[in-house]
Amino acid sequence: MVTVKAPGKLYIAGEYAVLEQNCPAILVAVNEFVRVSISKSKSTSGLIYSKQYSQDSIHWVRKGNKMVIDNRDNPFEYILSAIKFTEQYCLEQGIDLSVYDLHVNSDLDSADGKKYGLGSSAAVTVATVKAILQYYNVDASNDLIYKLSAISHYTVQGNGSAGDIAASVYGGWLAYQTFDKNWLTNELKHQSLSTILNEAWPGLKIHLLTPPTGMELLIGWSQKPASTSQLVDKTNAKKESIKHQYEDFLEKSRQCVLKMIEGFSSSNIDLIKQQIRVNRTILKKFASLNHIAIEIPKLTKLIDIAEKFNGAAKTSGAGNGDCGIVIADSSTDISELKNLWRKNGILPLNFKVHSLTH
Ligand code: PMV
Ligand code: MG
Repeated sequence: MVTVKAPGKLYIAGEYAVLEQNCPAILVAVNEFVRVSISKSKSTSGLIYSKQYSQDSIHWVRKGNKMVIDNRDNPFEYILSAIKFTEQYCLEQGIDLSVYDLHVNSDLDSADGKKYGLGSSAAVTVATVKAILQYYNVDASNDLIYKLSAISHYTVQGNGSAGDIAASVYGGWLAYQTFDKNWLTNELKHQSLSTILNEAWPGLKIHLLTPPTGMELLIGWSQKPASTSQLVDKTNAKKESIKHQYEDFLEKSRQCVLKMIEGFSSSNIDLIKQQIRVNRTILKKFASLNHIAIEIPKLTKLIDIAEKFNGAAKTSGAGNGDCGIVIADSSTDISELKNLWRKNGILPLNFKVHSLTH
């Protein structure tokens, strides 16, 4: 039997803009995991099982007389896509495929099934890719695991930056820029999977960052789950009609994240904190332009409390619920901050940054 794990992630800065090329974001991997185990089946049929992901509802829309199911929030779709592409790669490597049982176990969903928004679809994709490769004894670099996972995930979700995949594969703190999605779509039509996996992907940049000593990351959960794919659908639908403001948003976000990256390379916590606040303002403007709620009142509360204690805070990811993050230093009374969060219905999540040991 093989068992592998992949961590969840949080966005620190650069959300939404990172969907476009040449717009960096900063992410961090956290020590909450999706684990996938595979063992050879004892019969001619295999089993795919997940306790947390037993589905009891689906989203759908009507398109004429057709009921179209929205499967993007269904983790099983990601598991099946990861199996399909990874097995295709193994086949191209001349490997004989077999029948197995695959078990998935996720920390990324709370006991009552609510998602913290730590990117469980990305982590389950990465963990499945890694487990299948290991099961078939295929050595793979992080670069290959990232690319296989990004293809598997993108084929289901269609609209993500795959930054969450990068965080789950590489761990730690990272600066990320997405690849050219039109290029990938075209390659998938015309090239073998092995060829695509060995190519340099235009636009893609992944760099590990070293956090300054003394910098603390705090995470608060709004207790409201949010759907990233539905929010991104809305902003994608709007971007042509607000072209000018959209480009202004991309440029401002790019400058902000680049300065934040400079804060990491020069170990300047104040510069990082300053840019967290700038990014919050940029995202608030973007939300009002798109008529979407990113910073819901519960997240504003979370941020206001953190700011009272001299922490720099913002929403994390697509917003509308899920988590907020705080960058703090020794000037922040962390335990008092967390107490006030709890009093206001915000749950502090005591996760640590997950860095890979190899
Ligand atoms: O809500 P999250 O943590 O899944 O983050 C979404 C971040 C976006 O930039 C809005 C989308 C993406 O795929 O990058
Ligand atoms: Mg989210």
